Amino acid sequence: MEKNTNRKKILVIHGPNLNLLGKREPDIYGHQTLDGINTKLKARGEELDLSVETFQSNHEGDIVEKIQQAPGSFHGVLINPAAFTHTSIAIRDALSMLNMPLIEIHLTNIYKRETFRHVSMISDIVTGRISGFGHHGYLLALEGLAQMLSS
Ligand code: DQA
Repeated sequence: MEKNTNRKKILVIHGPNLNLLGKREPDIYGHQTLDGINTKLKARGEELDLSVETFQSNHEGDIVEKIQQAPGSFHGVLINPAAFTHTSIAIRDALSMLNMPLIEIHLTNIYKRETFRHVSMISDIVTGRISGFGHHGYLLALEGLAQMLSS
């Protein structure tokens, strides 16, 4: 089937240590790998008529640069900043410049964990948040974004 090139584009950003999903503390983060999550996101994107690009980095500056490329190229961003959630004003500032729906996602319920995880540098600038649904949360977030972009 011919690809719909007019599809809205979603940028999915995964922060540090998420490249090790599946091996990393599976009792906390589950057994699903990052490749598995990305494959499911792209497949669900096709069904929702969205084009999904995924990006992972362990480096704050690389994430900032990727976010800076979003205007004009993407229609929405889904981000799990991982540990940078709790520390990065640079990622917050980069996201603040975007004029598009932003979804913050966490595999775990960060409020059920250590107190240093209860602070998110981006919670007050994102459009919506999903936390505690494990890898399934990524699909919920994508569905939410699709809804936002169609209305
Ligand atoms: C996380 C929660 C963060 O506190 C942690 O540093 C992560 C993953 C989550 O998805 O639950 O790396 O963002």
